[in-house]
This record gives sequence, structure tokens and C-alpha cells, in this order.
Amino acid sequence: MLELLEEMVNIHGVTGYETPVREFVESKLPKGVKKNVDNMGDLVVTIGKGKGGIIFAAHMDELGMVVAGIRDDGFVRIKSLGGIDPRIMPGRILRILTTKGEVRGVVGIKPPHLMPDRTEMNKVIQFEDMHLDVGADSGDEARKMGVEILDPVTFHKTFEIINDKYVAARALDDRAGCTILLMAIKRLAKKKLKKKVHFAFTVQEERGLRGAQLVGHQFEADYAFAVDTASSGRVPSSEPAMGPAVVGGGPALRAIDNRHISDPAFVREVKTVAERAGIPVQVIFTGGGTDAAAIEVQGPKSLPIAFPARYTHSPVEMVAIKDLEDILALVVALVEEYAA
Ligand code: CO
Repeated sequence: MLELLEEMVNIHGVTGYETPVREFVESKLPKGVKKNVDNMGDLVVTIGKGKGGIIFAAHMDELGMVVAGIRDDGFVRIKSLGGIDPRIMPGRILRILTTKGEVRGVVGIKPPHLMPDRTEMNKVIQFEDMHLDVGADSGDEARKMGVEILDPVTFHKTFEIINDKYVAARALDDRAGCTILLMAIKRLAKKKLKKKVHFAFTVQEERGLRGAQLVGHQFEADYAFAVDTASSGRVPSSEPAMGPAVVGGGPALRAIDNRHISDPAFVREVKTVAERAGIPVQVIFTGGGTDAAAIEVQGPKSLPIAFPARYTHSPVEMVAIKDLEDILALVVALVEEYAA
């Protein structure tokens, strides 16, 4: 799983520009599997036959930026597409995906040597005041390198296994979910099912659950599960009462978040399915929202299944490898319960 996850994490796929992720997922699908790509770019893989069934959703997009401007002196301006904390930006290496290929640059920061007033160090630099240095000596040179306005921009990513138990990387939210769905498809593709199971790789989740709305509209299902993150408050800078999920404590049934409250009876039912399969689960609440909230309003009983994460939306999102494995097992158990 980790090799596939590392490949998945490294793909350039910011919100609205998910095509490279979708192409990667399609290239890894078992031969002959039924799939559909809609006009927004959502990819839905369907196995099984019959009416009703299940939707599992994971989003392909990651938080990102676009090129906002190219200055005459060659420096590039960037615009956040939302959700990125400006405190993490200075000193980062960024990757611009241009039509001529990838261009790398660094987010510059003024050194203390050139600071008459050192209190400047206490200030957070906002996106409007940042610049990306791509090594171009003029605007024309930057354009010749391929840089154009609205080219998508992501981070140079690292993928670290920490103490053999955890993985820390950018965009585990939600490429880990995509990886789990892809592995579930491989495991279940040959299975005879009485109902349909749709595996939806969605777009623009980080922009208001947009792709999932279209998916929910197109496919009829009795149940829907989003496989995504849940921010854990169990770190010194936060507290459990903000987000009780334990990283490494098993799949988190995300009963309540800012966009969604799951039917408590359905949460208990899913918990029982997990326990019967020997999978430890935790029932939690957290902030944010997932694709489950968007799909639920189209009819299915919905619940997000989350891998608890520390430092969500940062370049070092950290999750437990065991939780990812247990979520894969839970996805398979839910298919056996509701579609076999
Ligand atoms: Co997410």
C-alpha cells in the first residue's frame, strides 16, 4: 500500500486540475472494469449488478494555488485556492505545472540582514505579498519557461515514514482515500455482488464538495461513505475536546462535522459491522466536511469513514499506517454486509 500511496501523493492535482490524478488511477484499474468520467471530471468505477447499493467516495484534489501574475523582474505571484495556512509558505519549494512541463521555484523570504525593524519577523506574510522565485531574470524569461497565469501550483512533497508506524506527507488528504479505494477495487473486482458498488474519485472537494454533488445525482445508492481525514486534536497545540480522534486508534466513524450529522442508528449499525469483522473503530466528531455530506442529500444513508490525521492541510499531514489498512478492511466488510 505504501508504494502506491507515495506515487499517489506525489501527483500534481490541485483543486480543479485533477486530470493527472484521474489518469493515474485509470492506469492502475483492473482490465475490463466498468468506469465513467463525467463533465466535471469525477471518475466512478462500478462493480456488481442490481438496484441500489453503495457509493464510496474519495477526493482526488488537494489544496493548491495558481499563478496569479508574472512580474517584469521575473518573480511569480501566487494565489491560494483556499485552505492553505500562509504561515507554512515561506521557504517552501513549489511546483508549477505548465503546458511545457513542470517548473520549480522557491517562496522567497526577506533575511534578517535586510530588516531594519526586526519585529517584521513576528508577522505572517499573506499570499498577496509572497513571491515565487523560478530563477527567471525577467517576465519574458519566465514566460519562455512556460509559466502562464492560472497554471496550477503545488508543493514539492516529501514522504516520510516516522517510527515505522506513521506516514507524514503532503496531500494524504485525500490521496490516502484514493489509494484505499483503488486497492478495494482490485480486491473486489472479481467478486459476484447482488448490488452495485460505486467507487467515486471526486473533484473539487476542497472547493465545497462540488464533484460529489454530481456523483450523488448520477448514481442511486442506499448507502454512501466518504473515505477521508479527520483532524485529531490530540497534540500539545490543541486538545481532544476539539477533535477526539486518536491517530492509530482505528477507522474513525465521523458522526458529526461542520457539514453533516449522520443518523446515530446508522453509525451504531456500521460500528457493529466493523466489530463483527474484528476492526477497531472510534466514533468521533471533528471540523470541516466531506463528500458524504454532499451525497447524503441525494438520498443514501451516509457516513464519512476517516483516517485520523495530525497537521491536516500542512505539508506534513501525519496518519497511522495501521488505520489505512483497517479502513481498507472495513470497506471490504461493508461491501460484504450491504452488497454481497
Ligand atoms: Co479531504
